[in-house]
Amino acid sequence: MEDHHYLYLGLALVSLLVVIAKRRRGPAHGHGLRLPPGPWQLPIIGSMHHLAGQLPHRAMRELARRHGPVMLLRIGEVPTLVISSREAAREVMKTHDTAFASRPLSATVRVLTSGGRDIIFAPYGEHWRQLRKIAITELLSARRVLSFRAIREEEVSAMLRACAAAAAAAAPIEMRARLSALVADATVRAVMGDRCRDRDVFLRELDRSIELSAGFNPADLWPSSRLVGRLSGAVRRAEECRDTVYGILDGIIKEHMEALESGGGEAEDLLDVLLKIQKDGSLQIPLDMDVLKAVIFDIFGAGSETSATTLEWALAELVRNPKAMRRATAEVRGAFGARGAVAEHALGGLRYLHLVIRETFRLHTPLPLLLPRQCQEPRRVLGYDVPRGATVLVNVWALGRDERYWPGDPEAFRPERFEAGAGASAVEFKGADFELLPFGAGRRMCPGMSFGLANVELALASLLFHFDWEAPGVADPAEFDMAEAFGITARRKANLLLRPVLRVPVPSA
Ligand code: HEM
Repeated sequence: MEDHHYLYLGLALVSLLVVIAKRRRGPAHGHGLRLPPGPWQLPIIGSMHHLAGQLPHRAMRELARRHGPVMLLRIGEVPTLVISSREAAREVMKTHDTAFASRPLSATVRVLTSGGRDIIFAPYGEHWRQLRKIAITELLSARRVLSFRAIREEEVSAMLRACAAAAAAAAPIEMRARLSALVADATVRAVMGDRCRDRDVFLRELDRSIELSAGFNPADLWPSSRLVGRLSGAVRRAEECRDTVYGILDGIIKEHMEALESGGGEAEDLLDVLLKIQKDGSLQIPLDMDVLKAVIFDIFGAGSETSATTLEWALAELVRNPKAMRRATAEVRGAFGARGAVAEHALGGLRYLHLVIRETFRLHTPLPLLLPRQCQEPRRVLGYDVPRGATVLVNVWALGRDERYWPGDPEAFRPERFEAGAGASAVEFKGADFELLPFGAGRRMCPGMSFGLANVELALASLLFHFDWEAPGVADPAEFDMAEAFGITARRKANLLLRPVLRVPVPSA
């Protein structure tokens, strides 16, 4: 205990000296620059002690309230700019979009993405431009998303049958697992055409890789220290992860190539599309096998957890807000009652359901700090100089709950705020309104929005159409636990245990 006292005293003294030395040099005016303000830092760990014990997006909101919407932290060794206002977000993702269009490549991400040769982490440049174009025109276009409708409908039907069986037994269902399996199966089939024999291993490794790429492991926080890198073992774990996933993909790619050679397989999945582009050979930068695997890995990494998390929160918020649940349920049953099942092509008519999804994105944006960007050329944001190389995080979670943009009740789940004539009716999530950015904005904005929304809308409408939902053991819905878990995506912390009550029969297979 005595020893600890000395340690704390020592740390406090060193910090004090650092603070005094900084003050003497002038707080944020190094080399004539006007650096953004931020909380005081300690040697080695930088600003990390200000984040300790809290979820990063929550801690950063509190810090921004004191230091402002353009704030500079140092997380370990990494200078990190945190953006927390609509105006600052617009400057980063619109005014100076090109300067902030790269992403930092940490040691673990470099391993997982074959040196940043995928779409998500590729540095801003020709390689990224080419892959992004393929993603937008070939892989994730509206036409392609439509071509997977039958897969979505089959997978949602399978989920509904499992829910009906639970309803018959009056048993609760752990909905997070169900929703994750739904999105994973629909994605696996869209990408590979069929179910994947190694699905569970693949998804487990995917989860591990998302965790490793979140950037909060010692190897990524102190990149200059080889010792830390070696001790942390994160890079080795990333290598194991990549080898397992790439190994599974090798087998699947081989089968696809054989089928393509023999002219078989009429239904085109995303792997077929990529293999045809590769064979075509007309690309400026050839699409080698590692790039192809990295792109597939991206589609799973970016698409699965985000969509499943959105579904989970939407359902949890509706259970917690019975008025909104009644209205959404009445709408979907009114629209599809005569038909006896939800039809994807008519989902556009469900206006309230779309407001529910928009409100879910506002309160529970799946990537609360987006994906990190990196400042490539020094730029001024709201009058502050952003140093080259700084990692840039946009706290869209804080923007979604900011009293200035959502006056009166920013923490309340109230889809009506987006209704025609209401205050926020014109606020969309397509990247033009900087207070609501679940898919980001600008050049690096999510290209998979239609793909993700298609899964979310059909599943949510179908769950509400066929069932009422009860939370066993929760007497007052307002008490429903809404805590978030730690991670790159803000999932719900507690399991979502719900009991379905069948209201409209589920068609058999
Ligand atoms: C609810 C569903 C989804 C949400 C909320 C979401 C959100 C995001 C966000 C916030 C970004 C970073 C944007 C930025 O830096 O400004 C992103 C990037 C990306 N997303 Fe999504 N996403 C979703 C679904 C999907 C799906 C289904 C796919 C593919 C099948 C996908 C593929 C990608 C890719 C490839 C990128 C990287 C783009 C780039 O760096 O150029 N996303 N997504």
